[in-house]
Amino acid sequence: MTKDCSPTSPNVFSPPNKTEAERLVERAKSTPLSDGGLQTSALLSRALCLDPHNHDSHILQERLHQTFVPRWHFPMLADSLRNRAYAKAIAATVTPDDVVLDIGCGAGLTAMLAARAGAKHVYTCEQQPLIAQAARQVIADNGLSDKITVISKWSHDIIIGEDMPEQADVVLSEIVDTVLLGEGALATLIHAMSALAKPEARAIPECGVLRAQMVESDMLLSLWRPQEAEGFDLSAFHRFVAVAQLTPSDFEACNMKALGASTDLFHFDFKRPSLSPARVTTDLTCSTPGRAHAVLASFQLQLAPGVVLDNGLNGGGHWGRTAFLLDQTGTTKPCDRLRITAQHDAAHLSLSVHGKLPALEETGTHGIWLSPAWMKQRPQQENVGQRASDAPAWRRSEAATGQSLENIPH
Ligand SMILES: C[S@@+](CC[C@H](N)C(=O)[O-])C[C@H]1O[C@@H](n2cnc3c(N)ncnc32)[C@H](O)[C@@H]1O
Repeated sequence: MTKDCSPTSPNVFSPPNKTEAERLVERAKSTPLSDGGLQTSALLSRALCLDPHNHDSHILQERLHQTFVPRWHFPMLADSLRNRAYAKAIAATVTPDDVVLDIGCGAGLTAMLAARAGAKHVYTCEQQPLIAQAARQVIADNGLSDKITVISKWSHDIIIGEDMPEQADVVLSEIVDTVLLGEGALATLIHAMSALAKPEARAIPECGVLRAQMVESDMLLSLWRPQEAEGFDLSAFHRFVAVAQLTPSDFEACNMKALGASTDLFHFDFKRPSLSPARVTTDLTCSTPGRAHAVLASFQLQLAPGVVLDNGLNGGGHWGRTAFLLDQTGTTKPCDRLRITAQHDAAHLSLSVHGKLPALEETGTHGIWLSPAWMKQRPQQENVGQRASDAPAWRRSEAATGQSLENIPH
């Protein structure tokens, strides 16, 4: 569907100019996507103006949007817990003299919240050109074009003096995945806080913590490690799933029970982030009897003092959950401990289990290793401004560049 064409009355048949529409579709199919899909999108929109029922245009446009505009944008924008927390933190942090840099514009929501909070000016960057284009429209529709500048670039490509006249007083971002690190937030913020922000700049979020907790959930195992199907033993297949990436509805269906309190693994200061890898060995303690099935990893983000978002057992919102499945499940009683080693390299989290509980004698090593597609796109950037895959779990899906719609798998 296109918005800027005159509607065709359903009762009047006017033969569409199919030949021209089909020609545009052919051009759209072979146009390189190296511009992030802008030209392909324009060709398909023109084809649909000429022939609003052109099947190929509809299919290709949908494929283009799915490729470049990850589907998690929509549940994220509908996540009122997240939106309200950001609105509150931004209102509490931004003052009228502030120049705000919003990293990752998306639809423009956080940039508009900063403008509403009275920022002197908001610069918001977006690496995906189709998204940046749509955000400009959203911002104009809300009468904020004079307050917000959309920079269609990666944050690490922003040049002070060209894209922004001065460094920012506040750096605002929402670029965390289900385990906080997967979207390259640390590398992005290291660059932004040192190159794009004033020395005493504030950050939203200010800090975060990664946590782990032992959980019981028969349903989690039934969903991810079904023992049998139609009487056949499937357990030899289970080695392919060490880490369960759960959508919010999977998570709800799993009805996980905490076997003990969550333990902090790593703390992150987003005002002064560091890329140093870290490793911790710690015990997760049981406080209630049950069966240990998995270790749930979750984050807590402090957006501003007293404004906290989390995706732990009782957290809501659109973020998925990550559960490290235990190879040996076992009965637990209060005071039992499970020793784990957690490690991160600023973009990935891995977790391995030491056999401490009587029934958990085998050691399992589980990692979330995100697709390193970004390395190919940004080989010149070492450590600074790297962005990990857009596709851990369900929340981020990967974009394709440098090819045309003809060779994107569907
Ligand atoms: C999770 S969305 C958040 C959008 C918006 N800030 C909000 O909270 O509603 C993150 C957006 O940031 C973009 N992004 C992530 N890292 C970026 C970076 N370093 N520079 C520019 N854009 C980035 C992604 O393409 C995505 O559209």
